[in-house]
Formats: sequence, structure tokens, C-alpha cells
Amino acid sequence: MCRRMATSATTRSAELYARALELLPGGVNSPVRAMRAIGRDPIFIARGEGADLVDVDGRRYVDWVMSWGPLVAGHARPEVVAAVSAAAAAGTSFGAPTRAEVELAEQVVERIPAAEMVRMTSSGTEASMSAIRLARAATGRDAIVKFAGAYHGHVDGLLADAGSGLATAGIPASPGVTAAQAADTIVVPWNDRAAVERVLAEGEPAALLCEPYPANMGLVLPEEGFLAFLREAASAAGALLVFDEVITGFRVSRGGAEEREGVIPDLVILGKVLGGGLPAAAYAGRRDLMELVAPAGGVYQAGTLSGNPLATSAGVATLRLLDRSAYERLDGLSRSLAEGLEAAAREAGVPARAASTTGLVTLFFSDRPVRSYADARACDLDAHAAFCRGMLERGVYLPPSQFEAWFPSLAHSPAHLELTVDSARDVLGEMQ
Ligand SMILES: Cc1ncc(COP(=O)(O)O)c(C=O)c1O
Repeated sequence: MCRRMATSATTRSAELYARALELLPGGVNSPVRAMRAIGRDPIFIARGEGADLVDVDGRRYVDWVMSWGPLVAGHARPEVVAAVSAAAAAGTSFGAPTRAEVELAEQVVERIPAAEMVRMTSSGTEASMSAIRLARAATGRDAIVKFAGAYHGHVDGLLADAGSGLATAGIPASPGVTAAQAADTIVVPWNDRAAVERVLAEGEPAALLCEPYPANMGLVLPEEGFLAFLREAASAAGALLVFDEVITGFRVSRGGAEEREGVIPDLVILGKVLGGGLPAAAYAGRRDLMELVAPAGGVYQAGTLSGNPLATSAGVATLRLLDRSAYERLDGLSRSLAEGLEAAAREAGVPARAASTTGLVTLFFSDRPVRSYADARACDLDAHAAFCRGMLERGVYLPPSQFEAWFPSLAHSPAHLELTVDSARDVLGEMQ
């Protein structure tokens, strides 16, 4: 199979991009897709098959983006397609309760340690926004503590020093966020206990909000004991501990990072894998907190398509595939990928190091360990961009930003891994 990319200037992608630029801001519906950080135009996709993407020009790529995380089972997995097709044939939306949302909620409660009750939304952004509203209502406090480089969706008050697309575009805070909204957000460096202690003592926050395994500044794992420290510190300060497991939930283990680390938050935010590639997200947590949400309680939150039958059916079908052996495979694959990439960089003499856990990998172009957003920002972004462009030319589709993670899936085979590591060896070799 030839995966090398042709370089014709008049590709179908280029034509569509020209049309899109007239109609959509920046030609896209979510900024990172524009690929500006790696100095090229976006690629328009025609279809996905397992771990492969096929673009509108018929070029095939190994996909390590996987729709930014939801597709842990791969593209167009037959069991998921069948579940969605059956749900669609029975009607796409009712604005009334259905069986699939009860089944999905049962799965969430069974798997995620913090989840005693669940409220579904359509996006992770909505779920974050609603979880912090609930935390404020429960504590009677306003401030939220978040970590630099973490991303919790485009919630006004949470955009300060955010990772993901904002880090990629170099936007420290978005215009349009009011001073009042920003004032209620306190940002501290990840892995910095003293900073957390200081703001908890001074700030009286409603919540300490974190991605337990931050993956929106690249993957920057917590240092030994840091999550347990956050748990204790939040309780001591009368603040709720909120884990944003939109990326890590059902990915790094059956019950997310909280199960893996044995640190249970008060509230948890879920998304991505939860909807199996369709729009579904949720917030969940302790029963006494969740029963404050309307109509059980007075904290208002609603959604026309919340708990949508297509999305909940896709979620149930996806979770059914995620048994113990699935996580063993995902873990082995992620480990091999990280080791292969690091070895390729070493052979080429390029300073780069891989961070990885089950289902998440980042290759940082840095000669130092990356333990904070400041460290991630100090990476060689030009080298990362050159690497991504070279990999695309060889048919390997990577997150086009240093501040994101790769998403291994159950559909990636040893052949996909080999092609990726061989390509990395070539590209890194040419970068010297
Ligand atoms: C950790 C985290 N939280 C929240 C979100 C927002 O989710 P959504 O894009 O579905 O609004 C994202 C999106 O990437 C995320 O990575």
C-alpha cells in the first residue's frame, strides 16, 4: 500500500478549503483542525476505516488523532455502526427519556468510582460548565482553581492559560471573556504543591478542577502522590475536587484515572469515549451533590439533545467493547509506540522524549523532562511542526500541535505501529 502523499497544488482538499475559508472562520469548525501550528493547510476527510483515514483525494493515513479521543474502538467499528443504525431507524431524537440513556448511566456508575448519579450533556464544554455551576451551588463559593495548560472546553471562566487549541494558537485568554468571569478563576502550575496550598488557603474556592492526567499541554502525568495531595488539600479547604476525565475516562482504564490512581473526586466530567464518536458527555458524582441538579434540585441545566438516543447507543456499544483484554492491548500498544518513537529520536540524535500511559502518548521535542505547562511551552515547536509535516507526507496523521496527545485505539495493529515508527525514523533522520 503506497501512503506517500502527492504534492499537486490543486487537490480536492485545497478546493474545499478555499470554499470553506469563505464560509467558516479560518475554514474550520474547531481551530486545531486548521493545522496552522504546523504551517500547512487542513486535510479534508472522506472516510475512516479502523485505524485508517482516507482523505477526499483518496490518500490513506494511519490515524493517531481518532477524532481527538472518542474513537477508542476505531473508525466505523461494525458493532457501533449497527447500534447507531438501529437507533436511527427507531427515531433520532424524542426530547423524552429512552432506555439507552438509562443503560449508559448504569455503565457509567458501574465503572467510574466517583459516579453515583449522572447528568448527560452533548459536549464536554457543557458538562464542565455545568459541573462548576453545581460546585458553586453546593459550596456557596465563587472561585475555581484550575491548572495552567489544562483545557476544560471553551467555558468563559476556564479559558485562562488553557491548553489545547489556545496553547496551539498562543492565546493566553480569549477576548470576549469578561473581567468578572476571569476574576473567579485562579490558575496554578501543574505538579506544584506549594502553589496549590497557597491558593486554597487564600482563595476559598468552590472547586479544585483538574485533568487527572493532563493531556491538553501534551501528556504531563501527575508526579507521585500529587493527586492524593489534591484530594486531601481540597477537602481540608472545604472545596470540591472535580476531575475532568473527558479524555481519560474509559481510556486509561475501565474507571478512568481515578480508578487507576485510587483517588476519588467529588464530581467527574466525562465525554469523548462516552459517546463512542457521537456527541455525548456527562457530569457525575456523589448522590447528595447530583441531587441538587434540576428537577431533583434547583441547579438549572438542560439540553434539547442531551442523552440523545444515537449518542447513547454508540456509547453503550463502545463501552461493551472495553473489557480487561481491551485495556491490556491498548496499554501494550501505547507503550510500544512511545518506546519506538523515543528510540527513533535517539538514533536520529533529535532531542525528544515520549510521555505515555494507556491510550495516550505525546512526543515532546525537548531535552528535559516535561512536568508543567511552562516546560511544554519550552519545547522546540518548529521541530515538532517539521516532524508532523514529514509524517503526513509518509501517510501518518498526527495531532498537528505539540500541546495534544496521540490517541492509540483498539483498531491499531502491529503493522500500523511499524509503519509509524519506521516513518518517524526517516523523518527524524532527515531533520538533522
Ligand atoms: C479534558 C477536556 N475537557 C473538556 C473538553 C471539552 O469537550 P468538548 O470538545 O466535547 O466540548 C475537552 C476537549 O478536548 C477536553 O480535552
